Amino acid sequence: MPYTLIYSSTASFVLDDEEISVLLDHARELNAANDVTGLLVYVRFDDDRAAFVQVLEGDENAVEQTYARIQRDELHTDLLVLVRAAIPQRRFSQWSMKFVRMNQAVLQQVFSGSMPADGRSPLADRAAAERVIAVGDV
Ligand SMILES: Cc1cc2nc3c(=O)[nH]c(=O)nc-3n(C[C@H](O)[C@H](O)[C@H](O)COP(=O)(O)O)c2cc1C
Repeated sequence: MPYTLIYSSTASFVLDDEEISVLLDHARELNAANDVTGLLVYVRFDDDRAAFVQVLEGDENAVEQTYARIQRDELHTDLLVLVRAAIPQRRFSQWSMKFVRMNQAVLQQVFSGSMPADGRSPLADRAAAERVIAVGDV
């Protein structure tokens, strides 16, 4: 049975297109070699704040080894694992890493006015992350 790990994190800085492209190329190459698939959502809140939500899928060992590498990457901090579970089938089986960008306006729509107002990340729990992931799962 495949296995999934979903986490969110805070970007260490706002990444430009080139930095995203390098990150994705590298991730996709490694994932293809490890039979890992998934989704990466890059959420740009404003000029100086951004976050990631990522779904990893595959063999449990491959997913956990990939996550161990991801955790060490200084491009992000405050990683929060939201899901670790066996799943009946992959959701992103055709993608070595699907990529979706989101800005504050899209995020507002996704949460339809129910964004936390206290500065708390809207990506801090599983239900919130699932709403963001659903945008990429089409
Ligand atoms: C937001 C984010 C997503 C990443 N996604 C992946 C991924 O899907 N697969 C992967 O192998 N590495 C991923 N990485 C990890 C980095 O690309 C890492 O540098 C890479 O695994 C190489 O690590 P190494 O140089 O220690 O071998 C990600 C890093 C970040 C910050």
